Amino acid sequence: MLLGLPSTLLSIITGFLSSSSPTATTSPSLTPLTFHLRHQHAVTSDSRIIFSDVSQLSSFGPETTYTIPRKKVVVQKPSLYANFSDARDLRRSQLEGALDVDWWEDEVPGPALGERDALLQFANMAFDAYYPDNTTEWYDVGGDGWNTSTPWGWLPGEDGMRGHVFVSSDNSTVVIAIKGTSAGWLVGGGGPTTGKDKLNDNLLFSCCCARVGPTWSTVCPCYKGGNKCDRNCVENALVEKEDLFYPVGLNLYTNVSYMYPDANIWVTGHSLGGSLSSLIGVTFGVPVVAFEAPAEKLAANRLHLPTPPSTQHITHMYHTADPIAMGACNGVTSSCAIGGFAMETRCHLGQVIRFDTVNRLGWSVDVRTHGIKFVIDKLLGPESEWKEEEKVPEEGGGLWSLFPGWGKKKPEGDRDERNSTKRTRQIPMPKPAFEVEGVDGVCTDCFSWEYGDFDDPATKGTFGCPQ
Ligand SMILES: *[C@@H]1O[C@H](CO)[C@@H](O)[C@H](O)[C@H]1NC(C)=O
Ligand SMILES: *[C@@H]1O[C@H](CO)[C@@H](O)[C@H](O)[C@H]1NC(C)=O
Ligand SMILES: *[C@@H]1O[C@H](CO)[C@@H](O)[C@H](O)[C@H]1NC(C)=O
Ligand SMILES: *[C@@H]1O[C@H](CO)[C@@H](O)[C@H](O)[C@H]1NC(C)=O
Ligand SMILES: *[C@@H]1O[C@H](CO)[C@@H](O)[C@H](O)[C@H]1NC(C)=O
Ligand SMILES: *[C@@H]1O[C@H](CO)[C@@H](O)[C@H](O)[C@H]1NC(C)=O
Repeated sequence: MLLGLPSTLLSIITGFLSSSSPTATTSPSLTPLTFHLRHQHAVTSDSRIIFSDVSQLSSFGPETTYTIPRKKVVVQKPSLYANFSDARDLRRSQLEGALDVDWWEDEVPGPALGERDALLQFANMAFDAYYPDNTTEWYDVGGDGWNTSTPWGWLPGEDGMRGHVFVSSDNSTVVIAIKGTSAGWLVGGGGPTTGKDKLNDNLLFSCCCARVGPTWSTVCPCYKGGNKCDRNCVENALVEKEDLFYPVGLNLYTNVSYMYPDANIWVTGHSLGGSLSSLIGVTFGVPVVAFEAPAEKLAANRLHLPTPPSTQHITHMYHTADPIAMGACNGVTSSCAIGGFAMETRCHLGQVIRFDTVNRLGWSVDVRTHGIKFVIDKLLGPESEWKEEEKVPEEGGGLWSLFPGWGKKKPEGDRDERNSTKRTRQIPMPKPAFEVEGVDGVCTDCFSWEYGDFDDPATKGTFGCPQ
């Protein structure tokens, strides 16, 4: 809500807020920011990140402008990225505990996600990230430029990481939106995606190399019969293939922060793009909004990411009829199996806004509900089927929500610029993921599996292993 302030005045205000030090941002309210699509990002076949600038004349048109309310968000950053990276190497070489990361708690302007409309803005950005415009000129940061009409990932059926970069009018804040690479077969376009996606998904989000049944070819030779899985084997498989996913995300983030050195960076994405956003958010301590992402806690462990004291700057939105976000995308007869995917993890990082569409709206579990378009149409957009009944005393539930705009003074804090009819809670409360997904506050993935060192010659290669 820009409330008709002259744009020069707005940019002075927002510019002041964002460039001031953390202590100065303790003013109770931050103005919303308006973001425009500024760049596209893609990756070349040799895993270089490239960008293109989106001009006013692009085929996207004006619907790529989003306004997002803000509040202060506490993030945890490694005091030095080099320490994070060293600690990760040591963990990988199993000297865990040898090097701790110093985490630095910081308060940054982040998105205020209390209202459905704010989530909708991010969902639209995540949705936009799927669509390329007619740009033909691409470059890499700090490099000699890169000219190609079709970078990797733009053609139908290609699976390279790509998406959009939105920048606020005052250049203070950047939103990186990452496309979910497996979406082709889910959203309806294209056939099953090829190698990289499936490999990434099955390595990151399955319990043991996508061992689903005897007829499945696994993506790594770690299944040891029964319910046994070789731990070193699954971790090494991911590290060996890691040019696929996480490191590309790290490069994307560092390249964008090189382009916008003074900006706050937020990351958003849908599906695999959401999981990757979260891993980037854990690594660099930046706010994240992820949609329908497969649960990434196990992946963070397998990638040996040092664990910050809190991951609450990461927000997941998903609903219970989506078998991918719920980790119910497995079994030889499930709809996921048709594409050869096994997404079995259930524990997310950060906080979760979970729409229980199965119990509240009677939806049946179906992979077709996973698409970001579906989520926008049915849950977040103006035609939303969701009616939140939860009472939120501090925002005025009950009567207040029956008579929007009546009585009650504006709540203090980040929402006081908002239109009062929108102030009732329209979405479930965000809660720590382990509370929503765990039992007694502990969420455990793959509990029916036994992980250990089973790599002895007696069992090697006997069960379902391709080599
Ligand atoms: C940008 O990304 C490339 C990989 O595409 C990486 O090699 C390079 O170091 C990054 N540059 C900066 C300034 O972050
Ligand atoms: C891209 O599309 C827009 C609008 O359709 C058009 O004005 C512009 O000339 C196109 N640019 C290129 C490089 O084709
Ligand atoms: C972090 O890295 C710096 C520079 O490499 C080093 O001096 C410092 O000891 C490291 N901190 C920790 C906790 O390892
Ligand atoms: C890319 O190609 C266009 C025309 O094809 C040219 O004008 C531009 O200078 C090239 N950019 C780079 C970085 O080589
Ligand atoms: C934001 O950055 C763009 C491109 O670097 C520049 O043209 C524009 O003037 C900047 N806007 C403000 C308000 O600083
Ligand atoms: C608040 O928004 C609603 C619809 O979004 C609109 O009808 C109403 O006029 C707005 N009220 C104010 C005070 O801006």
